[in-house]
Amino acid sequence: MPDIAIIGGTGVYDPDLLKDTREYIENTVYGDVKITVGRYEDIEVAFIPRHGKDHSVPPHLVNYRANIMALKQIGVKNIIATAAVGSLNFDLKPGHYLLADQFLDFTKSRKNTFYEGGEEGVVHCDMTVPYCPEIRKAIKKAGNELNLTVYNGGVYVCTEGPRFETAAEIAMFKMLGGSVVGMTSVPEVCLARELGMCYGNISIITNFAAGISPHILTHSEVVEMMKESIHEVRRLIMHSLKY
Ligand code: HPA
Repeated sequence: MPDIAIIGGTGVYDPDLLKDTREYIENTVYGDVKITVGRYEDIEVAFIPRHGKDHSVPPHLVNYRANIMALKQIGVKNIIATAAVGSLNFDLKPGHYLLADQFLDFTKSRKNTFYEGGEEGVVHCDMTVPYCPEIRKAIKKAGNELNLTVYNGGVYVCTEGPRFETAAEIAMFKMLGGSVVGMTSVPEVCLARELGMCYGNISIITNFAAGISPHILTHSEVVEMMKESIHEVRRLIMHSLKY
C-alpha cells in the first residue's frame, strides 16, 4: 500500500495521472471512505477527492476524521492536499500557488480532534509547525522546475463557510497576518498531525478575496479558474512526488 496520498480539493476530483488504479472502501470508526490507489511512474499513491467526485460535500460537512483515519489505516505517512483559496494580497494573484506554513483557525462547527477524552484520553497536540517543511520543499522544487509561481510559506486563514467572507472579515484577516483564505485546511492538517503524518498544502489561488476583488465573488469564478489551471495543478502535484 502507498505511503503517500493526495487529497484533492475543489476542481481536483479524479486521479487522472495515476496508472493501474483500483478502488478500496476503507472502514473507519468515523465512517467508510472510498480511496483510489494507483501508480505515478514507480510511486504508489492514494487519492481521495475531499468534496466527493461530484463536489457534493460542502467544506463544513466533509468527514475530515474519516478521511485522515482511512489514510492512516492503509499506511500513508505523507499527504499533499490541494485547496482553492482567495488572496488577501495583490502580490498573490490568481494562477499563483502558495504553500502554507501556518494557519489561522476561524472554523466553528467541525469535529476537530481524534481525542475526545474517554479511552483516547486527553491529548494536546503540538501545532507550532503544522505544515511539513519537507513536503513544502519538494513542492517548491517541482514548481521551480515547471516554471510556476509558487510561494513557499504564508498564512492560510480557514473560515467555516460555506458562505464567502464579508469585506470586513477579509480586512481583519489581513491585519492579523493572513495571506490566503479558504475553507478546508483546518481541521484536516490538525488531524494529520494528531496521527503523526506529514501534511503539505498547495493553496491554489483562484480569486482575490471579498472586498479586495473589484467585483462580487461567485463560486463559478472559483470553479472556472480551477478548470483553467487543473492541468498545471496535476503536473505540479505529480512532479512533487518525485522529491
Ligand atoms: N474565500 C474562501 N474560500 C475560497 C475563496 C475565498 O475567497 N476562494 C476559493 N475558496
